[in-house]
Amino acid sequence: MGSALLAGWLDRGLDAATVSIVEPAGVPVGVPLTAAAGIYAGPDELPDRLAPRVVVFAVKPQAMDTVVPAYRRFAWPETVFLSIAAGRTLASFARLLGGGAAVVRAMPNTPAAIRRGITAACGNRHVDLAQRDLCTELLAAVGEVVWVDDEALIDAVTAVSGSGPAYVFHLVEAMTAAGIAAGLPPDLAERLARATVTGAAALLDQSSDTPATLRRNVTSPGGTTEAALAVLLADDGLTRLMTDAVAAAAQRARELAG
Ligand SMILES: NC(=O)c1ccc[n+]([C@@H]2O[C@H](COP(=O)([O-])OP(=O)(O)OC[C@H]3O[C@@H](n4cnc5c(N)ncnc54)[C@H](OP(=O)(O)O)[C@@H]3O)[C@@H](O)[C@H]2O)c1
Repeated sequence: MGSALLAGWLDRGLDAATVSIVEPAGVPVGVPLTAAAGIYAGPDELPDRLAPRVVVFAVKPQAMDTVVPAYRRFAWPETVFLSIAAGRTLASFARLLGGGAAVVRAMPNTPAAIRRGITAACGNRHVDLAQRDLCTELLAAVGEVVWVDDEALIDAVTAVSGSGPAYVFHLVEAMTAAGIAAGLPPDLAERLARATVTGAAALLDQSSDTPATLRRNVTSPGGTTEAALAVLLADDGLTRLMTDAVAAAAQRARELAG
């Protein structure tokens, strides 16, 4: 995810010479860096004169406790810390960086890898407007950005957009299985399901109509789509199932948060 962000920034014209990367494994794979960028094996190697406007944490959530304290020396009012780690709360960063640090907690999703992600962000009270704008600009390099004022909502965000790509991939699997059950050869069923989901998503993306209108547009009275939707729209249909699935994910996010 860190590499995807960096690739997006460089693509948007950010001068690589202004970026310092801490990466114990060396140069991140697939990132078009010039030799001007500083790449360091650990935070202790970062030059003392460095006064970053933003420090981005893109390591695994469970690694934060050991990684973050070394960056406490950059915790000036001018510096904003941006974390993309799932489940790590603003309070946990305050503990690791000191209570006065400006921290933004962001939750991107995997389509960020192709710059089609959506990220929800939430900042603590030390984040000023300019820092919020800077984080918006940085996160916008990999897709849309939305801000939530209440950090508790990040659990629901995680359950909808964070985990959501997996639900869509599973929809393709379910449609494939249903196609096979209806008599199609597996290869053809998967090809139809995949192209239908990606095609419908592209149509939705390019349309100004609501999903409900687009659905109605392809539903003739007494037709085949209506017969299928009678099953999906029933009280125990897809909305009920999705509501339960999202609630389970949000509950798990609350349990994992620290
Ligand atoms: N992937 C997603 O869709 C997604 C979505 C939302 C949020 N996130 C968040 O994004 C963060 C990164 O996830 P990811 O999937 O991109 O994980 P990842 O592929 O494992 O990337 C983590 C990177 O950090 C490096 N690293 C490990 N220890 C480090 C240290 N001490 N200092 C600097 N770099 C270090 C790792 O190097 P090594 O490989 O050598 O260990 C690796 O390159 C996580 O906190 C995750 O919750 C990810």
